[in-house]
Amino acid sequence: MDITAQQNLVHQTRDERRAIDFPKLSPAERDALIKKYHPDHRGHAYRSIKFGPNAGDSTVMEVATLLEGDSPIPADFNLTPEYSVDVLVVGGGGAGCAAALHAHAAGSNVLLATKLRLGDSNSVMAQGGMQIAVAPDDSPVQHFLDTLKGGHMKNDHDLLKTMVEEGPSIAQWLLELGVLFDRQADGNLHVKKGGGSSKARLLTCSDYTGLEIMRVLKDEVLNQKVPLLEFGAVIELLSDGAGTCTGAVLQDLDNKRHIVVAAKTVILATGGIGRLHIQGFPTSNHYGATGDALVLAYRMGVPLVQIDTFQYHPSGGVYPEQLVGALVTEGIRSEGGHLVNAHGERFVNELDTRDVVSSSIIRECEEGRGVRTASGRVGVWLDTPLLDVEHGPGTLDKHFPAMVRQYERYGVDIRKDPVLIYPTLHYQNGGVKIDVKGETPVGNLFVAGEASGGLHGRNRLMGNSLLDLMVFGKRTGLTAAERAKSLSQGKLTLTHVEQFREEAQRHQVSSELTSPMVLPAYTRHVS
Ligand code: FUM
Repeated sequence: MDITAQQNLVHQTRDERRAIDFPKLSPAERDALIKKYHPDHRGHAYRSIKFGPNAGDSTVMEVATLLEGDSPIPADFNLTPEYSVDVLVVGGGGAGCAAALHAHAAGSNVLLATKLRLGDSNSVMAQGGMQIAVAPDDSPVQHFLDTLKGGHMKNDHDLLKTMVEEGPSIAQWLLELGVLFDRQADGNLHVKKGGGSSKARLLTCSDYTGLEIMRVLKDEVLNQKVPLLEFGAVIELLSDGAGTCTGAVLQDLDNKRHIVVAAKTVILATGGIGRLHIQGFPTSNHYGATGDALVLAYRMGVPLVQIDTFQYHPSGGVYPEQLVGALVTEGIRSEGGHLVNAHGERFVNELDTRDVVSSSIIRECEEGRGVRTASGRVGVWLDTPLLDVEHGPGTLDKHFPAMVRQYERYGVDIRKDPVLIYPTLHYQNGGVKIDVKGETPVGNLFVAGEASGGLHGRNRLMGNSLLDLMVFGKRTGLTAAERAKSLSQGKLTLTHVEQFREEAQRHQVSSELTSPMVLPAYTRHVS
């Protein structure tokens, strides 16, 4: 059957599908499904880390190889600093901007360095919303419980408690800065429901939530004149020789030179790992998402937590080719969009947690009920026109203008035709170990946002990332600023790199591969 005939089947079966409620799976069924089909359970994609704080732990090959990579900085590198600051924030996404703004407001001498342009990040691409318990029938406790359940009870309770309790004050801060969250007719904030949540809790700006938040945060960074260094990628940390972080080496991507920054405190907010294309998956992530903080903190001796679990968002684009891996927001399923296999059947409760939904899609495709494109990709349908049928014409235009336009650019009208989707690498569930202030076990080294681990357990709920960025961006910024007041600048050494190299040699790990990756190889050949 060609693609058009397959699409027709989605139209023909719509009324029949609308008449039935797809049941939720029992806990045992969910676990069995995940173990059988979720990419986190493909043993052949994993190996043990050979040395370092997580020696013997299992992670995907791509991450293990980077963690064991050599530093690009030679032992005799000149460490004369070009900048000397109280707080160096690395990363120009949501967590980095929040950290820099709060540290700056606390009176610190801050440098905000970012690999690409200010705002180039996953944050700006976030569509579906930000979970905060603001509705009268909701509470931070309920938010805590939903997140814990979604994370398979493996979340760090202290981090999670901190995040949900501080949510309402973050909403207030963003509103005061000028973020235009969606509102009801009576003027109150409008909230939507996300997968795995018991309450409507998502604050949204249609499907431009991340873009709107970053519009405001970027403006604020510029208005507050926070010192900014764009195209400055972090490639190594510096230590005082006794295990405390004292700065970083940046690579100036514009001028192909290195920049040494002496910093009393360092906050890494460099985001996730999507561009490692783990297990060959396409990704919804931006080009800079290459796991830099994981590598640098690890080399400095910081353990990683839950580094064996990753989120494959159920709905990444499959067709057209230009949109392969691009996010199709969960918001569409939250508003009733059905997932439909090649036989015109629903096969999962679309509002189950992402690991369950992704596993079900993979099962359908592996068992021959997927839809194949001319280029050989496979996926299932997301019945987008159903939203206009259910909620009235114009719903997609009003609630999902970004999605409508994204597909329109390539000649697909999602109001008329369903879209083909398959799981896409979206998020690292684990990351660098931090405490409730965002500090790592290495003194004066902080990590905020997706690069950190523990908060989300083994499966992050939709909308919890944007809140994580703001809460721990703020906490790291304020703590680092306060800490810097009582510190004098420490020595700048590469002692930890020397120790790392010795360990690599002892484990016979070749030094041919250097890390962090900074950008995926395919971006370096664009002319
Ligand atoms: O589907 C989405 O809009 C994604 C949201 C998230 O990952 O939080």
